[in-house]
Amino acid sequence: MDTTRLLVVGAGAIGRTHIDRIRRTPGLALAGIADPSDAGRALAESLGAPWAPDHVSALDRFQPQGAIVATPNPQHVPMALDCLARGVAVLVEKPLADSVAEAQQLVDAQVRSGVPVLVGHHRRHNPINQQARQTIASGKLGRLVGANAMACFYKPQGYFDMAWRREPGGGPVLINLIHEIDMLRFLCGEIEQVQALASNAVRGFAVEDTAAALLRFENGALGTVLLSDTAVAPWCWDFCAGEQDQYPRQDVNALFIAGTEGSLSLPDLSLWRYLGERHWHHPIVREQRTALKADPYKRQLQHFAAVIRGEEAPLCSALDGLRTLQATRALLDAAASGQSVTCPVSTP
Ligand SMILES: NC(=O)c1ccc[n+]([C@@H]2O[C@H](COP(=O)([O-])OP(=O)(O)OC[C@H]3O[C@@H](n4cnc5c(N)ncnc54)[C@H](O)[C@@H]3O)[C@@H](O)[C@H]2O)c1
Repeated sequence: MDTTRLLVVGAGAIGRTHIDRIRRTPGLALAGIADPSDAGRALAESLGAPWAPDHVSALDRFQPQGAIVATPNPQHVPMALDCLARGVAVLVEKPLADSVAEAQQLVDAQVRSGVPVLVGHHRRHNPINQQARQTIASGKLGRLVGANAMACFYKPQGYFDMAWRREPGGGPVLINLIHEIDMLRFLCGEIEQVQALASNAVRGFAVEDTAAALLRFENGALGTVLLSDTAVAPWCWDFCAGEQDQYPRQDVNALFIAGTEGSLSLPDLSLWRYLGERHWHHPIVREQRTALKADPYKRQLQHFAAVIRGEEAPLCSALDGLRTLQATRALLDAAASGQSVTCPVSTP
């Protein structure tokens, strides 16, 4: 297999995860690191990797086949556009952009250039979600009726020392819940309508600490979502899916999907069904499926390499990134206005 050379732009928390996985994955090589910080330069030196202070000179000097944009959100779209202009495929971290209009700009540029864009909603690469998607598509749940996602966790006070995390845009809806929204879209289909409430009653910051939302999917199913970054609770994908070592593993579920023929909980992949007649007086049988374990960050990069080689279509396209952002922003708009918000289906 040919080696795919990847540039990492932004060597912060998630950039380092990508660098680590590139270095540990056969068939991938680190083409270089672009990060103006002393820490970024020091990391490149320690790894013996080429370093540049900015992405443009890195793209031109290191000639990567793909670039990973892992910088703060406002830089995602301008940097991705620079990659597309050079014909370099790009993996853009989530959220695709700060605003839907900016995300649309990238969607349009992708269509014009034909250069692939993959958005870093890494949970799509978790085999648990892929198995769940197959189970739903196979019809085992019947017609989807509803879904419930829980995202409750406790962020320590020190997390909020950085002022932007206390301001609108830095809150748990856009930072964290966007992952649940993308999972729900991946598993249950497009979200067309959102109602929501948000609260800052516990922390008292300008940004929300808790939010609850009602969703209507295009296929008619309904959804509920509860998010809090100030709740001591185990019901959160990061805790129960075991994707990152920094979150001690909890043996609970965080996502529940119900249909007319059966229901599925995740991540344990229990399928609940009647063996005979569907009747609330009969026992429901629990079928435990084997949840395959694999590192979604590594799988995402292997997929990115296959996308670059033209062998696979992006599992999370620029349009997916846009729609996930649109639904997440709709939740904030609905909470702010007290009105129901519809998510227009935008086409490139
Ligand atoms: N998919 C995930 O699991 C996941 C997890 C965490 C963060 N993220 C996303 O990744 C992005 C980065 O988050 P983070 O937590 O790693 O942030 P961070 O602050 O830890 O790192 C950002 C890095 O970008 C560098 N940087 C800033 N400006 C730059 C520029 N002009 N050129 C090159 N490098 C520059 C900074 O020096 C820093 O090293 C955010 O968009 C965030 O939402 C995704």
